[in-house]
Amino acid sequence: MDWPALAAAVAGCTACGLCRERKQAVLGVGDPRADWLFVGEGPGAEEDARGEPFVGQAGRLLDSMLAAIGLRRGEDVYIANAVKCRPPGNRTPEPGETAACWPYLSRQVDLIRPRLIVALGRPAAQTLLNTEVKIGAARGRLFDHRGIPLIVTYHPAYLLRNLADKALAWEDLVFMRRTMRGLKAS
Ligand code: URA
Ligand code: SF4
Repeated sequence: MDWPALAAAVAGCTACGLCRERKQAVLGVGDPRADWLFVGEGPGAEEDARGEPFVGQAGRLLDSMLAAIGLRRGEDVYIANAVKCRPPGNRTPEPGETAACWPYLSRQVDLIRPRLIVALGRPAAQTLLNTEVKIGAARGRLFDHRGIPLIVTYHPAYLLRNLADKALAWEDLVFMRRTMRGLKAS
């Protein structure tokens, strides 16, 4: 599937129950040849209405996090989610739903071929690493996703509720930036 075929497949997808209450599926946004791929959980109400990931409150924090390491949405950055349709009430997507949606994210990874993947929160990390993940234990380490380095950090919505962990998220951003520098130099 190329990008247009992928976009069409996602827009009309009924592979899991999340299709029933969505306004629209949210494929992702950004540079299709980005070095950086950020993966969140799933669209919220604003994302569902606008068709773009991370445009609500958590998205504003994500934009600040990107800015802190010299990045901007759309410039060498692609932003996607583990599930493309909004879970009702913003609940966490169920394993069956992330599994049903995985082929689309997988294809995005293959089309973008980023240098580094950043998993924002547990559902993204568990989907991409195909294993149980605890963010507190997994952050600060370099994982591998089919040959692409992967870093795990807190989800911005979690950070909005747990301000004390923002310092750890900052450490993670520094680690990401350092890792990317190393990848570009090698
Ligand atoms: N949270 C996510 O995980 N993704 C979005 O697109 C918005 C909020
Ligand atoms: Fe299809 Fe993914 Fe939407 Fe489920 S969440 S209906 S698998 S696009």
